Amino acid sequence: AQRNQGLKERLLQLKKERNAIILAHYYQRDEIQEVADFRGDSFLLAQKAAETDADVIVFCGVHFMGESAKILAPNKTVIIPDERAGCPMADMVNVEGLRQLKQKHPNATVVTYINSSAEIKAETDICCTSANAVKVIQSVESDEIIWVPDKNLGHYVQQHTDKKMILWEGYCNTHDMLTVKDVVEMRKQYPNAQFVVHPECRPEVVEMADFVGSTTAIIKYCRESDVKEFIVGTEDGTGYQLRKDSPDKTFHFASKFLVCPNMKVNNLKKLVRCLETMQPQIYVPPQIADKARLSLERMLEVTV
Ligand code: 13P
Ligand code: SF4
Repeated sequence: AQRNQGLKERLLQLKKERNAIILAHYYQRDEIQEVADFRGDSFLLAQKAAETDADVIVFCGVHFMGESAKILAPNKTVIIPDERAGCPMADMVNVEGLRQLKQKHPNATVVTYINSSAEIKAETDICCTSANAVKVIQSVESDEIIWVPDKNLGHYVQQHTDKKMILWEGYCNTHDMLTVKDVVEMRKQYPNAQFVVHPECRPEVVEMADFVGSTTAIIKYCRESDVKEFIVGTEDGTGYQLRKDSPDKTFHFASKFLVCPNMKVNNLKKLVRCLETMQPQIYVPPQIADKARLSLERMLEVTV
């Protein structure tokens, strides 16, 4: 604890010197969420990156999040605690495959989940996050959608639209791990609890839920509900904000596998070090960034 106190003091000092803002996703370790200027889901953090007056954005999350921040705020310096924090789902779609799909369906609109690389976003008409996915689909004029890369979120969205959705076969390794059997057992163990779930989980798991929503939506639902006990079907870092907002309620994570190892690569020590060295920095080639920016700015116009 004493070591962390020293690190926190150094962080405050560096933050001032560099005029930096710290953004942290809800899946980050508690020690990072504690010191962040803003905690949030993918949507809120992209919004904060686009709006900030700070000179430096320290993005604590995974690589595509830092990249999106750099695309939305090209004149800022964007640094991340560790460049090895990637997102396996973002790596499941490649430019060549997406181009082939676009050729096959020339009238389709490409809607891309923000969990994707800058190169994929540059091939995209409009991005979305889990918080505004349904609204984004409804905002699109065309009746045919190419959806990349999350098939589980795509399946969830498909239930809210008559449009024809062509789904890429990607998924989140962490959320996809949760099974019907896990939920059945948890419900048996905690019969008074409600089950809340992220739409990155498998369709048959999502179907079992009392509430489905993005990380922020889950936190808000639990805070405002009269229910006192929840089984939570999303990444375990969310527990930090859930417990902070509702100290009188009990949260059981639905499986011990709901931990994203990539999100956990970052820690307080690396956060301080990146502000000290101003490395690693995110760089996106301008010709890619300029195209990708359009798809992200369209996304931000569809509010949650
Ligand atoms: P949200 O932040 O949109 O809830 O997405 C979850 C996620 O898996 C981020 O990597
Ligand atoms: Fe990617 Fe899933 Fe980890 Fe989010 S939780 S960063 S979608 S692997």
